Amino acid sequence: MSGLVYITGASSGIGQALALQYYRAGWRLALVARRSTELQAWAQAQNLGPDRFAVYAADVCDIAAITGAGQACIAAQGLPDVVIANAGISVGIDSAVLGDIEVMRRVYATNNIGLAATFQPFITPMQQRRSGALVGIASVAGIRGLPGHAAYCSSKAAVISYCESLRGECRPHEVKVVTIAPGYIDTPLTRENRYSMPFLMQAEDFAARAFQAINDGASFRVIPWQMGVVARLLRLLPNAWFDRLLAGRPRKHRQGE
Ligand SMILES: NC(=O)c1ccc[n+]([C@@H]2O[C@H](COP(=O)([O-])OP(=O)(O)OC[C@H]3O[C@@H](n4cnc5c(N)ncnc54)[C@H](OP(=O)(O)O)[C@@H]3O)[C@@H](O)[C@H]2O)c1
Repeated sequence: MSGLVYITGASSGIGQALALQYYRAGWRLALVARRSTELQAWAQAQNLGPDRFAVYAADVCDIAAITGAGQACIAAQGLPDVVIANAGISVGIDSAVLGDIEVMRRVYATNNIGLAATFQPFITPMQQRRSGALVGIASVAGIRGLPGHAAYCSSKAAVISYCESLRGECRPHEVKVVTIAPGYIDTPLTRENRYSMPFLMQAEDFAARAFQAINDGASFRVIPWQMGVVARLLRLLPNAWFDRLLAGRPRKHRQGE
């Protein structure tokens, strides 16, 4: 199967790897990021055929801009077969610090409102066409709350619930909603982490597995699978054990750290 894929956060890491994966499988690309000049330069450096991709500059926190990018894509390239809401940020917070509430607002604006606004322009047309897949990039961090990571963990827990709600809304119209929860993937988002990252995976390997999960129409997939086992165990772990396990673990760096 090939078609048109729309990917946010395509200027780096997972989004970039997904773009290449889809391109090599014969798909046309609609690529979205704030750093559109860098994204355009990267696409040229990869020798992507000019008729096989288009770049849209948008900040997912700006609802008018990101829904406008979706509409521009439909007008210029047609209605995508797959939409991947991948753009996201990960910043630690100290819940006792007033200024970090603003950081939390930015995390939710990007990871949650941005994801919903990414999907919005495509939902009704896909439902009318009775085909397509909306893909939310969540995280294993959305399974349980990690100390120092309250904004990100809660945002990704919300991505999981949001996509589950959307799945029920889209199912009668034959539109798939796929939630993908990455474990640790080697990208700029994880490179500064101060803690061990079990089963760390290269972005290209992740993209190949995510491509398969989306083709399969999986409702929820953890990648790599080993982190799926960890996620299942974490879900079962009693709170007291979970708290003890995490005591003293280094925290995600806060903004400016
Ligand atoms: N790496 C991991 O281990 C891991 C694990 C679990 C989940 N994830 C999730 O996977 C997704 C991609 O992460 P990554 O590791 O590839 O991170 P990354 O390398 O830092 O890339 C993040 C991408 O999101 C875009 N982005 C950020 N804020 C944006 C905004 N306001 N508007 C538009 N685009 C924005 C960035 O583009 P511009 O700056 O050009 O706009 C960039 O292309 C995120 O949702 C992340 O939470 C990653």
